[in-house]
Amino acid sequence: MARSVLVSGGCGFIGSHLIDRLLLRTDLEALVVVDNLWTGSRQNIAHSTDLRLSLEIQDVESFRSDQRFDEIIHLASPASPSWYMREPSRTIKANVGGALNLLTLLKPGGRFCFTSTSEVYGEPLISPQPESYTGSVDCTGPRSSYDESKRCTEALLFETQRVEGLDVRVVRLFNTYGPRTRTDDGRAISNFINQALTTGILTVYGDGSQSRSWGYVDDIVDALERFFWRDRISHRGPLNIGNDYEVPVLQIAKFVCSLVPGSSIEHHAPAPQDPTNRCPDLTLARRVLPGWEATTSYQDGIERTLQWFRKQIVAVDTNLP
Ligand SMILES: NC(=O)c1ccc[n+]([C@@H]2O[C@H](COP(=O)([O-])OP(=O)(O)OC[C@H]3O[C@@H](n4cnc5c(N)ncnc54)[C@H](O)[C@@H]3O)[C@@H](O)[C@H]2O)c1
Repeated sequence: MARSVLVSGGCGFIGSHLIDRLLLRTDLEALVVVDNLWTGSRQNIAHSTDLRLSLEIQDVESFRSDQRFDEIIHLASPASPSWYMREPSRTIKANVGGALNLLTLLKPGGRFCFTSTSEVYGEPLISPQPESYTGSVDCTGPRSSYDESKRCTEALLFETQRVEGLDVRVVRLFNTYGPRTRTDDGRAISNFINQALTTGILTVYGDGSQSRSWGYVDDIVDALERFFWRDRISHRGPLNIGNDYEVPVLQIAKFVCSLVPGSSIEHHAPAPQDPTNRCPDLTLARRVLPGWEATTSYQDGIERTLQWFRKQIVAVDTNLP
């Protein structure tokens, strides 16, 4: 049966990769992207000439339409601390306001998918973090607009599921990186690559021993595709999705330096409430999505991302007057 799908935040990094996958669907009739281009770019989906795709440049929390959708995938929200910490109320509006508004655009019986985050675990007291871990979030801290709006949106969706039977799918994404990240995104891998290619000096906050599990975007979108629409799955989430191979930030910085001769590392004061570790417990993901693994090594993923960043930086330089 032909399906109409709305994706909020589809001009962003992960959203644009998801759009490419959605357009491969033969049952897709219409794909509406709602994005205000806050952290995303029209360029990220400009390569698609598919007539089923349309773009509405609007705030998701106030988007109005006469159309109702079979599936809604809500990604609209900055994911980078340096972006969401600058505009907390806008971040809360995008997540919570966006979800409240989009629920009104879902057909009865339609499916609502949401990208939550590993940040719902806050500064985790256990590692790796299973979905059952209720987290250690500071609701007055500098990251709270993001962490708490993701938690509140999860509450909204799971409670609507409990009371009204809403068909929901919620993933908790861990650090994801890859091509189409903004060059000024501000998170570790994109920052290191951008700095290596421009100033040559990579900024490591603190001693760099804080670790992260870095998921390459193609692997992460494989899981989203299977969980959001492809596999027949009764589990609704929350479901951790990421790479469970933990790597210290300093090791990533050193690897980027090894790819860009002449670049070097400088240590700065630690970022506020930067979690010391973040690693998904993927036991549930492996049960729900049998055979799925984040297989791209950080070395391969970073090399591919670096190639993409090189092209972006050359393109910007070429456009200079
Ligand atoms: N990238 C990661 O490592 C990561 C990790 C955990 C969760 N996530 C989640 O995945 C989703 C996508 O993340 P991303 O890395 O692609 O981020 P991104 O910043 O690249 O994309 C977000 C998109 O949402 C749009 N947007 C923001 N507020 C909006 C609003 N009010 N109305 C309409 N559009 C709006 C932006 O313009 C952008 O295109 C987010 O919900 C994020 O919280 C990402």
